Amino acid sequence: MKRLGVCIAGLDGAVASTMVAGAALLRRGLVQPIGLLSEPYTQSHALARWDDIVFAGWDPRSETIHDAALRHGVIGPCKLKPVRRDLAALKPWPAGADRIASFRREHKLDTVVVLNLLPTAQPAASKQYARLAAKHGCPFVNFTPNDCGERALRDVPFAGRDGKTGQTWLKSVLAPALRDRGLRVAGWFSTNLLGNEDGKVVGHPQLGEAKIRDKSKLLGEMLGYEPVHTVRIEYFPPRGDTKESWDYIEAEGFLGQPVQFRISARYPDSILAAPMCLDLCRFIALAARRGERGNQAWLSLYFKAPYGGPPHDFFQQEQALRRYLAGAASS
Ligand SMILES: NC(=O)c1ccc[n+]([C@@H]2O[C@H](COP(=O)([O-])OP(=O)(O)OC[C@H]3O[C@@H](n4cnc5c(N)ncnc54)[C@H](O)[C@@H]3O)[C@@H](O)[C@H]2O)c1
Repeated sequence: MKRLGVCIAGLDGAVASTMVAGAALLRRGLVQPIGLLSEPYTQSHALARWDDIVFAGWDPRSETIHDAALRHGVIGPCKLKPVRRDLAALKPWPAGADRIASFRREHKLDTVVVLNLLPTAQPAASKQYARLAAKHGCPFVNFTPNDCGERALRDVPFAGRDGKTGQTWLKSVLAPALRDRGLRVAGWFSTNLLGNEDGKVVGHPQLGEAKIRDKSKLLGEMLGYEPVHTVRIEYFPPRGDTKESWDYIEAEGFLGQPVQFRISARYPDSILAAPMCLDLCRFIALAARRGERGNQAWLSLYFKAPYGGPPHDFFQQEQALRRYLAGAASS
């Protein structure tokens, strides 16, 4: 088994602290690996086990992961208690500090992945971390909507952009199903309320532009025509990290009769995002071990705006993942 280092830009954030705390709970066998597509491939593809993954990263907040996790409140204090000491021992490096080489040496790591979990609308800092990854030959994952300057990453495997966690994931499941049933979608209205730090940024009319663009683009490609498509994000602090989303779909059925769907969802945003980030780190380390370079399109099911473009259809993306893994098992 290989030892894997994961360096996270934005280590004290909601997604990062949920991910690191989740991995600590998995390591101790205190939770089930729910929502982790990589888990069944651990043995067959020699993916890093939870015991063999070491986390580090950067954040100007310089809070321990335990304090960050408590502040975000995604995981309750009781659930965190058994891993409190592990999480209290982990503090971020100062933003931008070049510590990857000593981290790799100190922990005897075979692969170090850099994962971008910076706030939205931080392209300059995102590019800085992408350049650090390229300099140290590290695979890079961009879970944010930020531009990272992908040209700098051509010699390492990379994947992105913008995690497809909740509402957009459901859209990429439902739109192909409506299309394949022959229903004609006249309009799709999506709105959501989010009250965490990310919500503060993405709910801002200018700062949230990239997120709205990523959420808007894919519907026409999946349906084969452009219905009316409205996407809104509202920052609503009382909701915290638990996102509330509504979708209203107006379609035309047999005899031109209206067919309407209303979908209401509520879920902690980071609970959907964290296992996807863990999968991405384990999978992209596999790509690195196989000598892959450049965009890893087989990981596109994890992203709203995958590098390399469509398909956005979740089922086609899922098949691409399975095909790659089948090939990786036999090689
Ligand atoms: N939660 C989801 O479901 C989801 C889905 C898709 C995409 N994303 C994206 O993931 C990213 C992280 O989301 P989050 O909710 O954890 O955000 P967050 O605001 O909680 O965390 C971001 C962290 O980055 C830190 N940071 C700011 N500048 C930095 C710098 N220069 N260097 C290092 N760290 C810096 C902040 O202090 C903060 O702790 C966002 O871009 C978000 O859009 C999240």
